[in-house]
Amino acid sequence: MSHDVRTLATDEFVAANALFAAAIHRGPTPEAQHPRVLASYSPGRALGVHEDGALVATATSFPSETLVPGGAVLPVAAVTRVGVRADHTRRGLLTAMMRAQLDDVAERGEPLATLRASEARIYGRFGYGVATRGRSVRVRADREPLRPGAPLDGSVRMLERQDVVPTLRKVHENIALRRTGGMTRTEAWWRGFVERRIDDGEHIIAALHTGRDGDDGLAVAFVGESTGGFAGRTLALTDLHAADVSATAALWRFLLSVDLVGAVQADLRPLDEPLELLLTDPRACVVTGQDDETWLRLVDVPAALAARSYGTAEPLLLAVHDPFLERNAGVYRIADGSAERVGPLGGPVHPDLECSAAALSMVYLGDRVPSELVGTGWWQVNDAAAVPRADAAFATAETPWCGTFF
Ligand SMILES: CC(C)(COP(=O)(O)OP(=O)(O)OC[C@H]1O[C@@H](n2cnc3c(N)ncnc32)[C@H](O)[C@@H]1OP(=O)(O)O)[C@@H](O)C(=O)NCCC(=O)NCCS
Repeated sequence: MSHDVRTLATDEFVAANALFAAAIHRGPTPEAQHPRVLASYSPGRALGVHEDGALVATATSFPSETLVPGGAVLPVAAVTRVGVRADHTRRGLLTAMMRAQLDDVAERGEPLATLRASEARIYGRFGYGVATRGRSVRVRADREPLRPGAPLDGSVRMLERQDVVPTLRKVHENIALRRTGGMTRTEAWWRGFVERRIDDGEHIIAALHTGRDGDDGLAVAFVGESTGGFAGRTLALTDLHAADVSATAALWRFLLSVDLVGAVQADLRPLDEPLELLLTDPRACVVTGQDDETWLRLVDVPAALAARSYGTAEPLLLAVHDPFLERNAGVYRIADGSAERVGPLGGPVHPDLECSAAALSMVYLGDRVPSELVGTGWWQVNDAAAVPRADAAFATAETPWCGTFF
């Protein structure tokens, strides 16, 4: 069944947002918030499917940038507000929107698309794979929370409510693209995820770290329920970005030292955040979960593969299968630190290894190495000697992490 996906006009954004909200079981946004809703849609990027004049499916994206291994910064489409009306699901509407959206993203010259998935079984078929992960932690707020030898540098100060967004936005801009997988945020992101909550009257604790080279760290937390009487409030940490470990340590020490706080709870923290090494009592940090963060799609596989760096390894021939975006399919040669397509699938160039677009995304930023994906059946092997070569080629120096939910 073919579905007519069309670009939504500005005066359809509020309806699209209401449809998405209903799909994730939220009520419509109050009218006073409509200007913020309108500003959060990038004109020309919102898609919809109509039936009998009514909007029944929608998806949108906003432009961002991300850092890939080796230091290149690439344009990325941040896909969001995907929803299909409950009485129209499982008829191919999402599939039609995904196709239209990926074509549109490719036309815009954005080689990557990223999203956060409500459910892990939705997006793999469209070529998205988990490319960064994070852990949930609950850290008990002890007296003297950090070890005496923990690296601490600079100073932390709290921001007044009206200064939070303008100040932290600038700091984030400066540090967002230091780590592989990091992405830039739009002004609308700050309005939707932080300013809205401030305007709603929530109590916010926002802190800025200033180091030797200026402002280099930020933390945002909201105060949740108490689990331990008046003095046992839980801080829900929604944002902590810092340029280095000492700024990270200083911000955690500040949060854990706020009076009447019993614990700090945070989701999707970097897998390698060294909390246990910083805390006086490493068991004060309890890991309560681990989740996928970035779902990445290589929209233009040749461009994306050419943009990242590779470790030193003997040449590798990798077949990429991409039935959803056939133009990406082919055999790629990774050698001398770069990658290029050297032939079609099934042609005279025989690949050493084979994978899908989704399984390629899983190694692209360095979250996984090829041998893990070979062992679990995500990658196929034609020449076993190529597996360590692939590990060496795709290996990265750091664990990728984004830290921006949208
Ligand atoms: C997730 C959602 C967008 C899927 O839309 P849809 O129009 O039903 O998707 P499609 O009909 O194009 O499905 C394509 C395939 O994906 C499968 N699929 C879709 N959603 C799925 C889900 N949640 N779990 C497992 N499989 C799913 C379908 O079964 C179908 O498989 P098939 O081709 O083997 O038959 C829709 O169910 C929805 O709006 N859910 C609630 C809101 C939400 O979670 N949005 C995503 C935010 S990130």
